[in-house]
Amino acid sequence: MGIKLLCLLIATVLTAYYIYSPLPENVEDRWKLMLIGAVFRTLDHVGSVANKLGLAHHMDVMMSLTSFEQTPPTSDEKVTVTDTEFNGVPVRLYIPKGQPDSLKRAMIYIHGGGWCLGSAAMQPYDLLSRRTSETLNAVVVSVEYRLAPKHHFPAQFEDVFTVAKYFLQSSVLEQYNVDASRVCVAGDSAGGNLAAAVAQQVLRDPGVKIKFKIQVLIYPALQTIDLDLPSYRDNANMLILPKSLMVRFWSEYFTTDMSLNRAMEANQHVPAELSHLFKFANWSHWLPERFKKGHVYTKPVYGNSELGKKYPGFLDPRAAPLLVDESKLRGLPLTYVITCQYDVLRDDGLMYVSRLREAGVNVIHQHENTVHGAVMFSTGPLILTVGEKMANDYIEWLNKNL
Ligand SMILES: *[C@@H]1O[C@H](CO)[C@@H](O)[C@H](O)[C@H]1NC(C)=O
Repeated sequence: MGIKLLCLLIATVLTAYYIYSPLPENVEDRWKLMLIGAVFRTLDHVGSVANKLGLAHHMDVMMSLTSFEQTPPTSDEKVTVTDTEFNGVPVRLYIPKGQPDSLKRAMIYIHGGGWCLGSAAMQPYDLLSRRTSETLNAVVVSVEYRLAPKHHFPAQFEDVFTVAKYFLQSSVLEQYNVDASRVCVAGDSAGGNLAAAVAQQVLRDPGVKIKFKIQVLIYPALQTIDLDLPSYRDNANMLILPKSLMVRFWSEYFTTDMSLNRAMEANQHVPAELSHLFKFANWSHWLPERFKKGHVYTKPVYGNSELGKKYPGFLDPRAAPLLVDESKLRGLPLTYVITCQYDVLRDDGLMYVSRLREAGVNVIHQHENTVHGAVMFSTGPLILTVGEKMANDYIEWLNKNL
């Protein structure tokens, strides 16, 4: 009896520990968020332990969630869905069935998952793409780019850029009956990172004649140079995306060698030779006052220059699109940015908004009182009120502006 009671007590405490996460009072859908957070946390912990024991790679364990939510390409009465390839890169293609003769709009969508996880075929992304296609009467190209740890930077970027270059040809757009002046690129989280990077490259590439009308960046990751921003400090233990996991995603994008991960965790990974890049992500300068509150800006601490030589990619603008000078931002398309208050990536988005505006880019900025990843829960049993609202708002905005 005593033993059973003790076991029950331990099990209850463990369950409560896993499910309960301190969440700010004013966040909606607290219990649903805690449940979602518990699933992520469990996978993160199991992945970390399995990795340490040499049983499996951390990300392979976390990838089980992606596999679990995988859906086949299924057409319905409103949208034709197929899996195909654009120039050798797999994509899931959504073609709306309504108004077959009219010119369509188009979106290239890039899913999130820290460059290691996720898939265009994951149910939440599949549903969002269908909805976009149907509501906007738009062709949606959802890119199935290669992932880490099997593939490191720049594979992810290259795949998305290859698809963008292929699709933005007038002959291809004609084939899909798409209006070349109404194509956008959109992505969330790591997908927002890739969307921003690809938008910059498309703008600059003289070989790409047709440009994007709009870029949509949903809580994007945009810089690798300072992983101790106020948002990283305030949300280090926030559910869904704690700092440790974000740092792991970043380092894993470039290498599986943990020395970069440790240096990033300590925020001492940038060699002195690259100190000129700090000004592009200087939160003391670029962050609006209300987000700086309670934080003191300190000068950067430089890291060992060997890392910089070994993995030069980690400060490459194709990986960190915030780290470019103003001339590279000028001329970027109309931009819709979503940031979330309780998100380590909040300040990446906020600084990009400031920098784009300074460069004369027209930016619509939406700031939400929630955690990272909410748009993933805009449908289904774990629907979040705020996730649904964010998805509705951005699709409605695109309907008016694309
Ligand atoms: C960051 O900005 C602050 C204030 O605007 C300035 O004092 C500081 O020198 C800047 N640091 C770097 C590394 O640019």
